[in-house]
Amino acid sequence: MNQQQAARRHSELCSQLHHHNHLYHVLDRPEISDAEYDRLFRELLKLEQEHPELVSPESPSRRVGAAPLDKFSPLRHSLPMLSLENAFDDADMRDFDQRTRRFLATSDEIDYVCEMKMDGVAVELVFRDGLLQDGSTRGDGTTGEKITENLKTIPSIPLRLSATCPPLLEVRGEVYMDLNDFQQLNRSREEEGLATFANPRNATAGSLRQLDSKITAQRPLRIFCYGVGLIEGERSSCHFKLLERLQDWGLRVNLENTRKLRGIEQVLAWYRELLEQRDQLPYEIDGMVVKVNDLDLQRELGEKSRTPRWAIAYKFPPRQAITVIEDIQLQVGRTGAITPVALLRPVEVSGVTVSRASLHNWDEIERLDIRIGDQVVVERAGDVIPDVVRVIEDKRSGAERSVPMPANCPACGSPVVRLADEVVPRCQGLSCPAQLKESLKHFASRAAMDIDGLGDRYIDQLLKLGKVTSVADLYTLKKEDLFEFERMGDKLAEKLLAAIDGSKQRPLSRFLAALGLRHIGQHMAKLLAKQFGSLENLAKAGHEELLAIHEVGPQVADSVVNFFSSPRNREILDQLRQAGVKPDTEQRRAGGPLSGKTFVFTGALSRFSRKEAQEMVEQRGGRATGSVSKKTDYLVAGDEAGSKLDKAKQLGIAIFTEDEFLDFLERTDGS
Ligand code: IVH
Repeated sequence: MNQQQAARRHSELCSQLHHHNHLYHVLDRPEISDAEYDRLFRELLKLEQEHPELVSPESPSRRVGAAPLDKFSPLRHSLPMLSLENAFDDADMRDFDQRTRRFLATSDEIDYVCEMKMDGVAVELVFRDGLLQDGSTRGDGTTGEKITENLKTIPSIPLRLSATCPPLLEVRGEVYMDLNDFQQLNRSREEEGLATFANPRNATAGSLRQLDSKITAQRPLRIFCYGVGLIEGERSSCHFKLLERLQDWGLRVNLENTRKLRGIEQVLAWYRELLEQRDQLPYEIDGMVVKVNDLDLQRELGEKSRTPRWAIAYKFPPRQAITVIEDIQLQVGRTGAITPVALLRPVEVSGVTVSRASLHNWDEIERLDIRIGDQVVVERAGDVIPDVVRVIEDKRSGAERSVPMPANCPACGSPVVRLADEVVPRCQGLSCPAQLKESLKHFASRAAMDIDGLGDRYIDQLLKLGKVTSVADLYTLKKEDLFEFERMGDKLAEKLLAAIDGSKQRPLSRFLAALGLRHIGQHMAKLLAKQFGSLENLAKAGHEELLAIHEVGPQVADSVVNFFSSPRNREILDQLRQAGVKPDTEQRRAGGPLSGKTFVFTGALSRFSRKEAQEMVEQRGGRATGSVSKKTDYLVAGDEAGSKLDKAKQLGIAIFTEDEFLDFLERTDGS
């Protein structure tokens, strides 16, 4: 490819990736599969490796993070980032409405815009000529910290706006984390012995504060934009229209949950509705922000010291309650991490009865000075299990007992060790039943080997009856073994064995994730499976080979090398192989009869769906793409095929009907 061609392809790829990123992360309406997106992204990375001069600051490749900083530099906001006055009940809100109308000397009802108050971290983004130039935190309102590189890694922040945007645009919004993502992040941190975050807001703040943007890139952050700072060349008359404009320019705005309402009573009614919805939302909100819609009126109202007169936050009541810690249980995880869990006297917190709270680790227990018997304030954030916020020390009787870090594992008695860089202690036992139980649960789980029916109950029985000592033993179970279970019939036993058998050929990436190597979650497992193609290749990989892979750091490399050097692990892998567990590998597919061949399907297909067709090709090592080019080997044309068929004819590409394609597969499979 010459320079000119490379530049053209580069700009094509950037546009396509920007477009699909926007569809996926901003509009939540993807048009291509993740695999197709990955393919485009890898092509871009390769092209930029060969032609480094093509890399521009707004290239989608810049989202993976840049070189670490020593410290953040300060960045002054052109206009101060104000904060909001809070209202706590309807009376406060009616006061606000009265004040506003008095100030404007009007008896008319006021048009308000009501937005969700996201519980995250406020940021400002500066776009010049449509390109994201700077990003900063709110700081003290006048000067924030420049966190541009971190913000660039957030997929819902556009690096480039649509062509209709104004020449200068300062956008303000809230960066946050979905509750599910937050829980998953905490779970994996717990397993890795790292301190967990108390709530999604802290997790967001912690992620944005990283000097190494590659770490931020791994965190599931999102943004909703809700306002502007300086803006040149745009004259919207009202706030709601401005929000719509922001969305048109490519920014993510929570318009779906924003209401334009007339008069305070409508606002109060909507607040009650939002409060009802609160527990069903995928993210945490701590109230509603009410803004005067008319921008001229906003200017007239102006601001007093640090808060505008044209807006107010109507806060939600905190989801807190007071209860007693009846006991502290020690939970042993899959990797031996021991976490303390508070067993609470059941208490209702805004409609939900809670009886457990995570205490995270002993640093946290010490920080809050938590003891058994203490009266404590617990707080619930969405559907996250509650946190202990503080101890009510006045209520202590003196009979409370503190819980020291254990010296031995509560499940197997092995010594417990706390490594220098970890906050959780770990059981060092090689055959700890608690670790084994968690490993089995993880192995069988939906995201891993997906063994339908093998849940908590059966795993408990397998362990109780001594039927398994490792995941490999699952594959040698016989019907008679299962008959020893309580309430196990013929049908059920057959079903369970069939499910176990059916998991033998899961894709390599799932198998890798199922093995539960430290630092290797689903994403990393996919990456390694793709890179190495087989378990054998991965087992042979050394540090250097692993570290040469984009996204693989020293922790992952160590984890892989350590895992495969353990004799016990090698023994288990051997047993798995002998039992017939043969993960489906990319390599096997690469050796397939259609390896290296590219297919395009066009027109109305009647014998199979497009997806099925694609799978048939991919299973045999081929590729199915959307457009005809010189690289296409075969075109399969259904009824009413149009321009793609014409183009294929022009290029002299082999053309099949659906039936001919099926015949062709049969022949290649047989050969
Ligand atoms: S407007 C002058 N809108 O709440 C307007 N703020 O307590 C100032 N926040 O610092 C902000 N969602 O971090 C606004 N829809 C929303 C918001 C929102 C969350 C946060 C923001 C701000 C704080 C003010």
